[in-house]
Amino acid sequence: MSESENAVHGCLDGLIAVVTGAAQGLGLGIAEQLAINGATVIIADLQTEKAEIEANQLQKNGLSVNGAYLDVTDSKGVTAFFDGVVGDYNRLDILVNNAGIGQNVTPVVELSDAEWDRVLDVTLTGTFYCCRAASKIMERQESGSIVNLASINGQSPAALVVAYNVAKAGVISLTETLALELAAYGVRVNAISPGPVYTEFNKMVMAQRCESLNISEAQMIERIRNSIPLGRWGEPTDIAQGVTFLCSPQAGWITGEILRVSGGLKGVSATPPKRES
Ligand SMILES: NC(=O)c1ccc[n+]([C@@H]2O[C@H](COP(=O)([O-])OP(=O)(O)OC[C@H]3O[C@@H](n4cnc5c(N)ncnc54)[C@H](O)[C@@H]3O)[C@@H](O)[C@H]2O)c1
Repeated sequence: MSESENAVHGCLDGLIAVVTGAAQGLGLGIAEQLAINGATVIIADLQTEKAEIEANQLQKNGLSVNGAYLDVTDSKGVTAFFDGVVGDYNRLDILVNNAGIGQNVTPVVELSDAEWDRVLDVTLTGTFYCCRAASKIMERQESGSIVNLASINGQSPAALVVAYNVAKAGVISLTETLALELAAYGVRVNAISPGPVYTEFNKMVMAQRCESLNISEAQMIERIRNSIPLGRWGEPTDIAQGVTFLCSPQAGWITGEILRVSGGLKGVSATPPKRES
């Protein structure tokens, strides 16, 4: 029997949760963990078919999970989506802003407007749209919890991915600002800063970094492992446990907090060599 079949109740019993970008990777792990702890979870993703397939799979394990289409960059679409959640479920208790995209590895001096906009639109502006829509609902309810996925890069920037660093630093500031504005309503807003987890997102960034450093993927995986104080890469469940804690009543006096879940890694500070002219 899987872990999911064992436990379908817990600290989030009866709560309604939305996890954005949850058709795969960290978001999917977070959706499963929230559901294992008793929440009804909506997996909201651009990839509708994948979201529905994963939701069906989790339902077979006795969990309450549904898939839905959401493009976090579509301001009106985001508003309509959250109106729909309230229409269907009458409330919204948890929002996890997980949707985010990596940047093509490029120095600032060569970064195009289009790449800057692409990363900021999803990773920062999309998080803002979802926070704004959910906050209106949670203010009205005078309850709720929002967890944003930041990154250790948002706290300690890595070279060659400035748009991503800035987007995640923005997510941290958004989290801290919203925590102040929603405190009077009893709504908590926190962020998790994950360290490296081997998802599709990370595979894409690693492939580009391997090429620029002229090393193999296996060497890159080992190099990163060696830089993590706890000596291993993260798993989606590591991140999901942190998110679940922040959403739970056990974190009832925590707001405006940025929690690193990174095996002790605080950032990657390597500097690239001079570029060939
Ligand atoms: N994997 C890591 O090592 C790592 C480390 C630090 C932070 N993070 C952050 O965690 C989050 C999840 O990362 P992941 O590794 O699972 O990535 P992933 O690429 O595996 O998954 C991202 C998901 O977001 C969805 N998505 C993309 N654009 C969207 C949009 N406009 N609207 C709705 N959904 C959209 C994708 O369809 C996909 O399902 C991201 O915010 C990422 O920045 C990841």
